[in-house]
Amino acid sequence: MTLLLNQRSERHVEETKGFFDDLAGGWSKRYADDPAMFARSQRFYSSLIMYQQPGAKLLDFGCGSGLVAKHLADKGYNVTGVDVSPEMIEHANLLSSVSGPEFRVYAGKGELPFEADSYDAVISSSVFEYLPDPQAILSDFHRVLKNGGTLLLTVPDMRNSFRKKESIKRALMLFPPIHYFLKKSRWREGLSYLRLSCNRFSIERWQRILDAAGFEVLSVPDEQGTLIMLSARAQDVR
Ligand SMILES: C[S@@+](CC[C@H](N)C(=O)[O-])C[C@H]1O[C@@H](n2cnc3c(N)ncnc32)[C@H](O)[C@@H]1O
Repeated sequence: MTLLLNQRSERHVEETKGFFDDLAGGWSKRYADDPAMFARSQRFYSSLIMYQQPGAKLLDFGCGSGLVAKHLADKGYNVTGVDVSPEMIEHANLLSSVSGPEFRVYAGKGELPFEADSYDAVISSSVFEYLPDPQAILSDFHRVLKNGGTLLLTVPDMRNSFRKKESIKRALMLFPPIHYFLKKSRWREGLSYLRLSCNRFSIERWQRILDAAGFEVLSVPDEQGTLIMLSARAQDVR
C-alpha cells in the first residue's frame, strides 16, 4: 500500500512539518543532555537487543534531532534516520559521524526511499500519534523490513492519567469557538500539539492496525507510562 494522502491529510503532514521545524532548535538544546531522553533511548536499546544484534540495519522513522538514532549507532547498529522536518534533520546531521547514523528528509507521503527487504528493524519513537494514515506507513515498514524483521513503536498510553486529562483538554480546546479564540492566544503552541497529535488509540486498536499491516505483536507491557512500547515482527504475507 503506497502512502497516497488526500488533501486534508497532506495539510496535516505540512502543518506537522512546520510545527516540528519551529521546535527543532529548542528540541536539540533541551534534550541533548536530558536524562529522560537518555532513558528513552535506552528503552529502545533494551527492547531491540532482545531481537537484533549490533550490526543489524535499522531505520529510525521520525528521528527528530537524532538522539535515539545516535544512541543506537553508538551501540553498534547500522542506523538511518528519516524525518519530515528538514530543520530536525539539520540538527541531527550535527550528531552524525563517520560511523553514522545517516539522516535524511522524508516528504511524509509516498513510499519510503528504500528497497524492499532492506532493514532488519524499524523503530519509531513518539511519532505515530501524528500520522494521518498510520496503517499505510506500517505497510511500507513491512515492505522495507526483511521477513521476520523487528518493529518497535512508542505510542501514547491512553490508560495513563496524564493522557486521560490531556484527552479532556484536547476535546475542549478543539471545540470550534474555543479553538478560534486559542488560535490567537499564547496557548497556540499547545493547541497545535493537541490538534496534530491526533491518534490517541487504545492498545487493542493499535494491535488491529499492526495486524492489518502484516505484523505479529510480540509484547505489550503491562506497566503504564505516558508512552507505551509495542514490539512486533514482520510476518511473511507474500
Ligand atoms: C515527538 S517528535 C519525536 C522525535 C524522536 N523520535 C524522539 O523520540 O525524540 C516526533 C517527530 O516525528 C516527526 N514526524 C511527524 N510526522 C512525520 C511524518 N509523517 N513522517 C516523518 N516524520 C514525521 C516530526 O517531525 C518529529 O521530529
